[in-house]
Amino acid sequence: MEEQDLIREALQARKYSYSPYSGYQVGAALLSAEGKVYTGCNIENAAYSPTNCAERTAFFKAVSEGVYKFKKIAVVGSPKGEVNQFAFPCGVCRQVMMEFCDPQDFEIIVAKSTTEYKVFYLKDLLTEGFGPGNLARWENSNENTLL
Ligand code: THU
Repeated sequence: MEEQDLIREALQARKYSYSPYSGYQVGAALLSAEGKVYTGCNIENAAYSPTNCAERTAFFKAVSEGVYKFKKIAVVGSPKGEVNQFAFPCGVCRQVMMEFCDPQDFEIIVAKSTTEYKVFYLKDLLTEGFGPGNLARWENSNENTLL
């Protein structure tokens, strides 16, 4: 799937953003290794802290369906209206990416539109990240299963 197609899906997902408190609307589209797209939007809450970012919504939808391997994610975000800025994933979302993605391979597409976007590898947005490989119980395993 082309980067432009993934951005289009993220823009579509942004329309569902539930953000009555910040008015900041984010959409994400996550491409699995098998080629399926999982979309997400930010979901806010009157108690504020239960708020979930668009990126994590997409990841959690996929993982909750047994999908653990991913190629890339497109993210679009800005205050209500046309997307007028680049919205980079927050630190918590980068850490969730670190859990399921190879930092050398996983691409993060930060977009304003299908023609205006930047592409990064996870390793560049989360340098020297801490991940599953750091824990002894995951040693010698490249699967998301316990030894
Ligand atoms: N937000 C995301 O959905 N993704 C990010 O990477 C940054 C922030 C959301 C959370 C909250 O609903 C709103 O944007 C303002 O922080």
